[in-house]
Amino acid sequence: MILVGGATGTIGRVVARRLAAEHPVRLLTRDPGRITVTAPGTEVVRGDYADESSLRRALRGVRAAFLVTVPSAEGDDARFLAAAGAAGVERVVKLSAAAVEDPAARDGITRRQRENERILRSSGCEWTILRPRSFMSNTLSWRTSIQEAGIVRALYGTSANACVDPRDVAETAVHALTGPGHAHRTYTLTGPTAITAVEQTATLARVLELPLRCEELDFDAARDALSRRYPAPIVQALLDSAARQRDGAKARVCDTVREITGRAPRSYEEWAADHRSAFTRSASADLRPAR
Ligand SMILES: NC(=O)c1ccc[n+]([C@@H]2O[C@H](COP(=O)([O-])OP(=O)(O)OC[C@H]3O[C@@H](n4cnc5c(N)ncnc54)[C@H](OP(=O)(O)O)[C@@H]3O)[C@@H](O)[C@H]2O)c1
Repeated sequence: MILVGGATGTIGRVVARRLAAEHPVRLLTRDPGRITVTAPGTEVVRGDYADESSLRRALRGVRAAFLVTVPSAEGDDARFLAAAGAAGVERVVKLSAAAVEDPAARDGITRRQRENERILRSSGCEWTILRPRSFMSNTLSWRTSIQEAGIVRALYGTSANACVDPRDVAETAVHALTGPGHAHRTYTLTGPTAITAVEQTATLARVLELPLRCEELDFDAARDALSRRYPAPIVQALLDSAARQRDGAKARVCDTVREITGRAPRSYEEWAADHRSAFTRSASADLRPAR
């Protein structure tokens, strides 16, 4: 049995779908109504990293686990790994972040990811750490301004990021969860090229067949926009992270996706073409219950 944490999230949802085709899987969520994978052999378990008894239930009989936590929460990795150790889980694959390997990244999110990696490495189980660069899917946050005004607003819009398709992260995770040779390995995952918000806007304009333009956000406007969505420590971490991108820290491309999965990482153009409908449907359509 393989437990998938974050099974309603960007990466875990794809991991769950890919695994469920061939393996018995158990999907962990605080809200089972949000699970979309329904393949035979799939179990859904209600659980919360904050609730140790729910973790004990979720991990019973589990051989391998995919661990996804959100960096705003403290102690989730430690509680999960303690419960996994007690349940005899052999292998844990953790979703971390590429920033961890950059000594200049000292923001609160990255410090917590570093600490969580340390806890995993000392947990006694076989571990694999995935360190993806930014997800291409983050650009879905541009949907409203694209639909309303044909504009993408970005801070440091001409700085490059070797962003990665979430499907490539998920497929690497599936290999690490099910294949040999991944114990005690750390994989940095990027897309095939480093790309700027200006270039992503041009790609979306082609794919969506819309006249789009990228507008540079000034620092105060970017901080105000983030402050409307996140608490202050997360806002500061995101601004620090953007400054590192401006300084070129996120442009390095790695070939790890190809080495692990055997196929080339998907380009932003490919991701955009496959998610065209997510940019064109109305935001309210996402709020309707799935049938
Ligand atoms: N976005 C990026 O560009 C990027 C880049 C590199 C690394 N990362 C890392 O990726 C991770 C997030 O992955 P994601 O984007 O796939 O996830 P996501 O879409 O943000 O979803 C978060 C997932 O975590 C689960 N979760 C959160 N708190 C939980 C709790 N207390 N108990 C049980 N489950 C909980 C949620 O499950 P329920 O709500 O269903 O319970 C949900 O499935 C973070 O560690 C982030 O630092 C992100």
